[in-house]
Amino acid sequence: MDSVDQLLTAWFQDVFRRTFPGVGDFADVVAVAAKDAAFGDYQCNAAMALAKQMKKPPRAIAQAVVNHKPWHEAVAALDLAGPGFINIRLRDDWLAGRLEVMARDERLGVSFPGADRTVVLDYSSPNVAKPMHIGHIRSTVIGNALDRLYRFLGYRVIADNHLGDWGTQFGILIMGYRHFVDRQKLSATPVEELERIYVLSYEKSEASAEWKNQCRQELVKLQAGDKENLLLWKQFVDLSIAEFEHMYRRLGVKFDLTRGESFYHDRLPATITRLEQQGLARESEGALVVFLEEEKLPVCIVRKSDGAFNYAATDIATVLSRVAEFQPELVVYVTDERQQLHFAQIFAICKRLGIPTHLEHVWFGLMRLPEGTFSTRQGNVIKLEKLLDEAESRALAVVRETSPEMPPTQQKEVARAVGIGAVKYADLSQNPQSLVTFSWDKALALNGNSAPYLQYAYARIRSVEDKYRDQFPGKDLASFTLVLQESVERQLALHLVRFAEIVPLAARMAKPSALADYLYELAGLYNSFYQNVPFLKAPEGVRESRVRLCGLVARVLRHGLNLLGIETPERI
Ligand code: ARG
Repeated sequence: MDSVDQLLTAWFQDVFRRTFPGVGDFADVVAVAAKDAAFGDYQCNAAMALAKQMKKPPRAIAQAVVNHKPWHEAVAALDLAGPGFINIRLRDDWLAGRLEVMARDERLGVSFPGADRTVVLDYSSPNVAKPMHIGHIRSTVIGNALDRLYRFLGYRVIADNHLGDWGTQFGILIMGYRHFVDRQKLSATPVEELERIYVLSYEKSEASAEWKNQCRQELVKLQAGDKENLLLWKQFVDLSIAEFEHMYRRLGVKFDLTRGESFYHDRLPATITRLEQQGLARESEGALVVFLEEEKLPVCIVRKSDGAFNYAATDIATVLSRVAEFQPELVVYVTDERQQLHFAQIFAICKRLGIPTHLEHVWFGLMRLPEGTFSTRQGNVIKLEKLLDEAESRALAVVRETSPEMPPTQQKEVARAVGIGAVKYADLSQNPQSLVTFSWDKALALNGNSAPYLQYAYARIRSVEDKYRDQFPGKDLASFTLVLQESVERQLALHLVRFAEIVPLAARMAKPSALADYLYELAGLYNSFYQNVPFLKAPEGVRESRVRLCGLVARVLRHGLNLLGIETPERI
């Protein structure tokens, strides 16, 4: 089913073509939801952009379009405003009809644009032997929301956790292991112990050239297939993955693949050969590099002067491998802002190689605590595990207060959903590219733009339906039609049908925050609906329509939060 903006867009394009034959296909003409209810329900602002090309005043263009009859069946009024805006008002009965279709649709009106299309999502991708910290949560949480959005839109999604499991840290780690490991600690808290020996060995390598050299030797041995080093490497990787898995389970995140950088190791020589054969890579000061002057980017090293392949070479090999294996139309990488240059270089090289796949880097600002940036080095690292524990225990305190009569096991279960949801939402509700300052009070607030607020709204709306069933048992709600009497009902309906627009938009723009904003606004509209019109006391027919509207709001909240990876307990 087409969404309202799609229907209106198609109709406007058609009207433009009929009104101005031979001018063009008007593919850029769009209808969008009005920013402000004062400008109608939808708007078409194309006349302004077309004025220059068509050598006509924008108002004259818009007027000619408005004069075109008959209007689309959805349209009650088209009003010309300002320099050439067309404000669109939808017919109430048409809107109620749309809402009815949406209510009867399991997918809430969202279409399947992704059928037969593949997207590879590269997200989370932590580095082995380092605990995941709060900064990693953004890639995991944003990536997983995109994952859910694309899947729901019908795409074949390949979620690939591209672990950093093959870099220079392994030479350092192997030396650290040989000299400092505490086996007891390694089995009790493996990743912490790996981190400890890594730091010790790293510090030594900074202080001693001899040590540094030995680390490099160990790395070379590993990459050349030395048995003993490979066994150690495998052990480090497995221990780390087990800890990551534990975290993913808590966060409700699943990958289709966990292929680390090591997976591509054997493909690196062929990748480099291809770069050379296509005339892209050249020797420079002993290293092999790709000059990217045309793209106005700095030179990209693909093989270091000591013969080692690097991060860039691995990423190019990874693109080639994914394109050959999955034929995706899009590969999305979710990392922090510091990798912008890296991906700009990789994408430029892939373009020059003639790879048609669209490559997109979704970057985000680093997560901050009020007192500063998180960083492993600065010592104020908050391990993800601790963060989630803290979230759950703070949520438990809230649940105990709001629902003292709830059995303790249920309180705990609700607190888990609320705590984890709060942490995720604090992240997802922001523009990914803004700096996030994490605050417990904001994340767990029952008012304001937070997960608990939306989860609470959901549970409350559910109870309206329960109350109705208690008071009016045996009635078949679905047999009553939806009627939009009050303006707040109309507003709510208009917002509800936009769910079908927001979901694809959030995926396309890689902005789960667009969906979060939508849900927050929905909860706000619902509140004014709930406060301003009678429900159970309304006359029969109106009452059922309103209870059905409640049910639809609840379904959209539930589904929308689920697309963000957030659970919705039935009671809070
Ligand atoms: N392991 C990297 C890091 O933690 C992120 C990898 C992102 N994906 C990629 N294909 N380069 O910084």
